[in-house]
Amino acid sequence: MRYLMLCLIAVAVVATSLAFASPSVEDQIKARQSAYTFMGWNMNRIRAQVIDGDVEFNAGQVQAAANAIAAIANSGMSAMFGPDTTTGTGWKPTRLRPEFFEDMARTGEIAGNFIREANALAEAAESGDRDAIARQFRATADSCGACHRPFRASE
Ligand code: HEC
Repeated sequence: MRYLMLCLIAVAVVATSLAFASPSVEDQIKARQSAYTFMGWNMNRIRAQVIDGDVEFNAGQVQAAANAIAAIANSGMSAMFGPDTTTGTGWKPTRLRPEFFEDMARTGEIAGNFIREANALAEAAESGDRDAIARQFRATADSCGACHRPFRASE
């Protein structure tokens, strides 16, 4: 009985690690399209409160949105970017350009810069200082654009 349990656990562990070792092209594209859509959603919430002002500033909501963005930025997004994922369909056809894989040092720099800015946005949000949040919001949005311009195809 004990042996059977150990075998079942071993099979479960192997099955789990296999499932994560090689997500399909479709799943990688779906994951990043979802992640970026959700980051965009949270950026829009912050923009509405600290830049446009069409929603009343609420420090707690801004902090929650900034923390969600930082959590995604820190989640190891490179796992969603297999070299064979420049063509394929997730929720819709991918817009990843092959140039993403041409100079990985440059790509890493652009991605690293975005991660730094996203974490700085979470820190600014924690301070509750609206002007500081607005400044860091712009810096973060610039770091999104710095990746989109070279690596995201237009719709
Ligand atoms: C490291 C590069 C990179 C960074 C940084 C980046 N993006 Fe993107 N983004 C992409 C790529 C590539 C796609 C296209 C993904 C696909 O279709 O497979 C994309 C797609 C999107 C989409 C469209 C999603 C969809 O499926 O319709 C939105 C919205 C978006 N990004 C917002 C953001 C925001 C907001 C930030 C910053 C907080 C950001 N991105 C940072 C590379 C990046």
